[in-house]
Amino acid sequence: MSESPAGPPFRDRPGRPPGQQPGSGPEALVALPDLDARGRGAFVHEGHAYAVFTLEGDAGGGREVVVTDGVCPHKGGPLAEGVLRDGAVVCPWHWYTFDLATGACRTADEVSLRRHPVVEVGGRLHARVSAPVRRSWAEVLRAHARGED
Ligand code: FES
Repeated sequence: MSESPAGPPFRDRPGRPPGQQPGSGPEALVALPDLDARGRGAFVHEGHAYAVFTLEGDAGGGREVVVTDGVCPHKGGPLAEGVLRDGAVVCPWHWYTFDLATGACRTADEVSLRRHPVVEVGGRLHARVSAPVRRSWAEVLRAHARGED
């Protein structure tokens, strides 16, 4: 398996390491856990939760393993327990729906779900994860003023 399609859309800016998403810390390569019969799983790395989903391909077949943050960006619901529907995960807490191909929220524009690239290393799937960076309000406002977020 090769690297999964691009993650959520974002603008690359000078100073950000290639492939790193806004608001993300350094990357780490983490082996995926064994998945359940539905092709789903969850893991924690450096104190941050991640969710693993397997999307079935269209009529042509094929499957795609997708890794996202495990905590819902709305109010922190456990996305690994969400329902998969039409290529999206539905959070079990307030039913916000996140497109797993892009991370975009179909319910509210102001939130989106971070996706993490999946790569095969030594015959085993790994995720290239990065923990979200918590910024102060001053940092958020300065970044917004620069047009970065
Ligand atoms: S916590 Fe996920 S939709 Fe509210």
